[in-house]
Amino acid sequence: MRISIFGLGYVGIVSAACLSHLGHTIIGVDIAKYKVDLINKGILPIKEKNLDKLISKAMREKLLKATTSTKDAILSSDISFICVGTPPKRNGDLDLSALESVCGEIGSALRAKGSKEGRLNHIIVIRSTMFPGSLSILKNILEKSSGKKEGLDFYLATNPEFLREGSAIKDFFKAPYIVVGSENKEVGKKVFSIYSGIHTKKFIVKPEIAQMIKYASNSFHALKVTFANEIGSVCKELGIDGKKLMGLFCEDNQLNISSYYLKPGFAYGGSCLPKDLAALKNNANNLKLNTPLLDSISLSNLEHIKRGISLIESKKKKKIGILGITFKADTDDIRGNPILYIINTLLNKDYKIKIFDPLISDLNLKNISNSYRKEVYDLVCRENLKDKIVDISNLFSDIDSVLKQDIIIVSNQDKSLKKYLINLNENQSIIDLQGIFIKEKFKSKYISLN
Ligand SMILES: NC(=O)c1ccc[n+]([C@@H]2O[C@H](COP(=O)([O-])OP(=O)(O)OC[C@H]3O[C@@H](n4cnc5c(N)ncnc54)[C@H](O)[C@@H]3O)[C@@H](O)[C@H]2O)c1
Repeated sequence: MRISIFGLGYVGIVSAACLSHLGHTIIGVDIAKYKVDLINKGILPIKEKNLDKLISKAMREKLLKATTSTKDAILSSDISFICVGTPPKRNGDLDLSALESVCGEIGSALRAKGSKEGRLNHIIVIRSTMFPGSLSILKNILEKSSGKKEGLDFYLATNPEFLREGSAIKDFFKAPYIVVGSENKEVGKKVFSIYSGIHTKKFIVKPEIAQMIKYASNSFHALKVTFANEIGSVCKELGIDGKKLMGLFCEDNQLNISSYYLKPGFAYGGSCLPKDLAALKNNANNLKLNTPLLDSISLSNLEHIKRGISLIESKKKKKIGILGITFKADTDDIRGNPILYIINTLLNKDYKIKIFDPLISDLNLKNISNSYRKEVYDLVCRENLKDKIVDISNLFSDIDSVLKQDIIIVSNQDKSLKKYLINLNENQSIIDLQGIFIKEKFKSKYISLN
């Protein structure tokens, strides 16, 4: 395929070298004339392992040349990859000026290029990292400067880059996956065909997902580094080999290094996670260690519980039925279930609440009353609890009374609760805090927290 690549920095030059290795003809464009001149002489403007070999090969095979002319590049290619920089502004926002200016130039060049009905015209693929929402800005610029219509005369897609400098070539050919963001499957497939020599998982997704996956990935990588460093620092103070410990940690592929716990839903709870985190945090503090990441976990959890409360309050109805009060399915243990804090907050605001849980028997009702006070305290880490703690033992009710309330809240992941939701009426709302019934159809209005 004939591909133009805009921006010959780290991502652009590596993409140019690797795509030419896959047999494509590449025309690279940069506003920095010195980079263009260097590349045309076969000299690398950056250092990257094995890049020199690929660039020399591409030059020898006449598959790569560089230019400063956007018009030449657009007229001699069918698809353009944009790899210009998107540096941060002072306030942390992205500086999109290079992307905006390159789109303006490409649009002007597209004016001179004919488009044909019934075939895929020029495709512009954004490789640069940008936040969801930015694509429409670029689309407007392209349409205005070209006088053409996106989705008809040209197409816009995104294709985030996951390479790491230092191992960029290896990462390109051994990518974890290739993600193309496009509303148009044909466009997605055309972009995939460029990578047909790379055997990895390939996904066509909505453009916003393709843009956001880069942010989710990079923040997770940063989180992993910080987490390992905080755990390592605690270990060091305790005379434990942190590297050995984290090596062992990574041996658990079921809960630690796996997709488990990585699904947006409700806040964590239970008798272990909150307690053990609190102990780790206190011990780290006793060791005079600052562990802001570990300290922030329970705060983040509490913030998520508060989002649940705001969602319930936004319905402006005060009669609430709660289905499921145990902290997860298949147990009668209520300890640490964040719903307890929600119940207490709502009772303090004069909500009327009825609770049903198929796993709670009369036998453990007494237990619940006894431990409820402590549980609510623990959920807010015993900090700043201004509300009084209201006894909940008399809120337990039969299922029929619970189902008559205005809002039915599903708090845990017990899928057997679905049968109770089917016959609710249209005036009732279901708030599914875990989001387990997201794909189900109910007569009543269904909302999930995540
Ligand atoms: N560097 C990485 O490891 C990496 C990895 C993945 C994603 N990304 C993302 O890829 C994008 C590019 O990153 P980079 O590190 O390659 O940037 P870079 O700064 O190394 O290169 C950008 C290039 O774009 C050129 N340029 C600017 N305006 C132009 C224009 N109007 N026309 C043509 N060329 C123009 C610049 O002269 C420069 O050579 C960024 O959005 C970055 O976040 C980078």
